[in-house]
Amino acid sequence: MAHLLSTTCSLDVSSSNKLHFKSINQCSTPIPTSFNMGISFSPLKKLSLQSKRSAKYVVRASAVSMSQEARTQNDSGSQQTTDGASTRKKVMVIGGDGYCGWATALHLSNKGYEVAIVDNLIRRLFDDQLGLDSLTPISSIHNRIRRWKSLTGKDIQLFVGDICEFEFLAEAFKSFEPDAVVHFGEQRSAPYSMIDRSRAIYTQHNNVIGTLNVLFAIKEFREECHLVKLGTMGEYGTPNIDIEEGYITITHNGRTDTLPYPKQASSFYHLSKVHDSHNIAFTCKAWGIRATDLNQGVVYGVRTDETAMHEELVNRLDYDGVFGTALNRFCVQAAVGHPLTVYGKGGQTRGYLDIRDTVQCVEIAIANPAKPGEFRVFNQFTEQFSVNELAALVTKAGEKLGLEVKAISVPNPRVEAEEHYYNAKHTKLIELGLQPHLLSDSLLDSLLNFAVQYKDRVDTKQIMPSVSWKKIGAKPKTVAA
Ligand SMILES: NC(=O)c1ccc[n+]([C@@H]2O[C@H](COP(=O)([O-])OP(=O)(O)OC[C@H]3O[C@@H](n4cnc5c(N)ncnc54)[C@H](O)[C@@H]3O)[C@@H](O)[C@H]2O)c1
Repeated sequence: MAHLLSTTCSLDVSSSNKLHFKSINQCSTPIPTSFNMGISFSPLKKLSLQSKRSAKYVVRASAVSMSQEARTQNDSGSQQTTDGASTRKKVMVIGGDGYCGWATALHLSNKGYEVAIVDNLIRRLFDDQLGLDSLTPISSIHNRIRRWKSLTGKDIQLFVGDICEFEFLAEAFKSFEPDAVVHFGEQRSAPYSMIDRSRAIYTQHNNVIGTLNVLFAIKEFREECHLVKLGTMGEYGTPNIDIEEGYITITHNGRTDTLPYPKQASSFYHLSKVHDSHNIAFTCKAWGIRATDLNQGVVYGVRTDETAMHEELVNRLDYDGVFGTALNRFCVQAAVGHPLTVYGKGGQTRGYLDIRDTVQCVEIAIANPAKPGEFRVFNQFTEQFSVNELAALVTKAGEKLGLEVKAISVPNPRVEAEEHYYNAKHTKLIELGLQPHLLSDSLLDSLLNFAVQYKDRVDTKQIMPSVSWKKIGAKPKTVAA
């Protein structure tokens, strides 16, 4: 899939077989027509149950810069050029229609960065294919961006396409010329990657090849561009020693070295992230790419300052057994009177963070870029909890609101330690200025109230886990409705 769309410009196709795009200030720039191609292999094609698109795609791109008047008071997205002038830092948010990406794109736009979203909208298709839906009704990406513009005067450019298609990504890079790329654009569910062979292969292809294309695009077109890549704390697994931030110094047979911290991923999804980290580290060394790998914990919450501004800006909130993550899922379960589903013994401990801190961390990483050739790793979470601890917190908060909440243990669909040591370091982002929103009673109250507000949209059939790590097979599977 390779087509670029913009909400802010018009498109001409000239007879010289070049595509021209016009910005609203009428300057016209040629784009090569390399998009008029057949669809190359994409696992998406195999998974797609939807419309058969024509093999030729319309290409639209926009080159609209944000107006000076739209700048905010707390503008932190500016940078100095060599002649001393101030320009906006351009940030490409890949996966900007997703849960973390949408909130981040708005946050950065609000902070004065010039933002472009790149997304192939596949996440919305997964929902359609599996019969799932966000708790919150989410607007189309086009309406989201239009609403943002009408509320704030700020443009967000949009490139709709698949980053696994290099020609698409290359054109987006050449058109937007990012100073930083925030890469959220992956298949991000461990259970999804464990449904069947085709989803396992799709996940690894999508994530690893997509990231590789981003690395090549930086090398070819924007050597100075800083890559901020979303990894996961799940890459480390649950070792019986403290987890360091990316690297560990080891003395072995009398010799000492600082080495990448060992990775022990526990699903095909997590393994794709490990491979991404290796590819990024290698290209930093080999080509001098500057990169920050954000090993993010489990994100909870839904509202940020920007998404709370209008109902058309509302973020998605997943509660189902495939895409729902622990705390968000528990709050929705509590709201509809479904028992909180603790997998196995419930001693599984992980790092967690509020979505307001996700957007803050990404901004901090962009504002303090890695040096050329540096592969920097930050553990991006603020607190750690076991599943049992989260269930107890939600039970207590629910009771305060008059909800009847109970937790039950269900057979663990995953293969993972259910009781283990866990102590992960997470100081680097704090040192750079992160001010965490720790999980508080008031946040839990507001998340629970939010879930209660939308509880009529909950499909309780989607709540129980439906994907077993041990039962994955080659045969294509439909998750039970
Ligand atoms: N949500 C969490 O709790 C969490 C925790 C740790 C790490 N992360 C990481 O953060 C990132 C974002 O997670 P999320 O929860 O926002 O996921 P999400 O599924 O809501 O968003 C991902 C977005 O990327 C897009 N995308 C996927 N493949 C693409 C491709 N090939 N080309 C273009 N766009 C593509 C999807 O359409 C979607 O909009 C992921 O990389 C994930 O692994 C998330």
